Amino acid sequence: LDARLTVHPSLQLGPIDRRLFGGFVEHLGRHIYDGIYEPAHPTAGADGFRRDVIDLVKELGVTCVRYPGGNFVSGLRWEDTVGPVESRPRRLDLAWHSTEPNTVGLHEFSAWLEQVGADLMLAVNLGTRGVQEALDLLEYANIPGGTELSDRRSKNGRGKPFDVRMWCLGNEMDGPWQLGHKNATDYGTLAAATARAMRQLDPAIQLVASGSSGRAMPTFGAWERGVLEESYDVVDYVSCHAYYAEKDGDAASFLASGVDMDRYIEDVISILDEVKTDKHSSKTVNISFDEWNVWYQDQYNDVRRVEIGDWPVAARLLEDRYNVTDAVVVGGLLISLLNHADRVTSASLAQLVNVIAPIMTEPGGPAWRQTTFHPFAQTAAVAHGHAMRVEIEASTLPTSAFGDVASVDAAASYDGERVAVFVVNRHLEDASRLTIDLSAFELNGNVMASGIWDDDRLAANTLEAPDRVKLRENSSVRWNGSTVTVDLPPVSWTVITV
Ligand code: AHR
Repeated sequence: LDARLTVHPSLQLGPIDRRLFGGFVEHLGRHIYDGIYEPAHPTAGADGFRRDVIDLVKELGVTCVRYPGGNFVSGLRWEDTVGPVESRPRRLDLAWHSTEPNTVGLHEFSAWLEQVGADLMLAVNLGTRGVQEALDLLEYANIPGGTELSDRRSKNGRGKPFDVRMWCLGNEMDGPWQLGHKNATDYGTLAAATARAMRQLDPAIQLVASGSSGRAMPTFGAWERGVLEESYDVVDYVSCHAYYAEKDGDAASFLASGVDMDRYIEDVISILDEVKTDKHSSKTVNISFDEWNVWYQDQYNDVRRVEIGDWPVAARLLEDRYNVTDAVVVGGLLISLLNHADRVTSASLAQLVNVIAPIMTEPGGPAWRQTTFHPFAQTAAVAHGHAMRVEIEASTLPTSAFGDVASVDAAASYDGERVAVFVVNRHLEDASRLTIDLSAFELNGNVMASGIWDDDRLAANTLEAPDRVKLRENSSVRWNGSTVTVDLPPVSWTVITV
């Protein structure tokens, strides 16, 4: 089967914000403890952080990390996380039925991020807390000195401010599972009041209002409208969250998850622009897709502890093992984000280490890349400059969830020198020959193609076989001076650069 697409230098969608390649770290399961932080590990530094994990996170290329939750943040007292470690309280974390020792807090995590080379995106608790506590944290983090909280930060070992630019106003407040869950008007009113207050303190920050926790939520749409009605003028972003999984063996629909993400983003853009019109506003609010990934949620229902006396530290929670198909879906989701780079200017792969993560670790043992590591790392490394508009001509495939979908989907970027094309072949059995028309560019013709595919679409990387699935060169790629041809195996992710 043949597919065809054209990339033209004048058809630019918008600059690719580096924040599109963000990650998410929550105090959840073995993400922090026995994940990034394991003082007894042979690679750990004096600060307790594993160097092998830092190296992998750097290789992944995350640019900005949302922290410290997630559901966790809706019960958090941020003051617990600073000051002398030995005086920090142990607390019950109601979100994940765990005990939080607070050994790693704001200072330690921020020092870890400096080693990783990524920015911090902080979430404030609007579940059990409100305007004052958000203001206190902002003062602690961003005011240079001379006030009680900024001086306390210096006393706690950090003279210069953390200077956090991007702040999430709570997390998934539409979800009945969320501590302090609210209706749209109540949350929108609180988010707007918090945003106004925070801006009075630091006018340069960027603020994210919590959108729906998924497009399938019964309140989706009404929630965004209700929240933005109250907060449009004082926020910069509304969030989207989406998790996908192969359900009941329906691989065709799963492989087309990018179609759902496209529709989700386009629905939210419509609502944002409707509210903008209603408010006669000249300001455009964008999307922060700050939780997205494959997540086999159903599989883990039995892992959540329910006994009153059982509150473990660092239990093995949400440790999904990803296969080749999952990696292709992650690639498809990256394509969807790139194809909306004009309005999605921030995104966070959820999450980073051990918890629905591209990186896994074993206590005292190795750290390794899951299959999903590769599409993210490749895209973060080469998608620079502008996202380009691409029109793809391809055969269609029937899916039960989304009707007929294109069998091949693609996005492209151009940084002034290099064109990069990101492609998935969603077909379960058939390869596809793709022709890319680049005749309008002056290119040096140094063409390369690599990606993820395998005879066994369920192959995965494990502790025993950590490199079972690796990036592969696609040797079928050809350049003829104006077009590229490449054969795309079934269920595959490919990046072509010229
Ligand atoms: O990423 C895991 C959880 O998914 C987060 O804590 C929450 O925000 C979402 O429901």
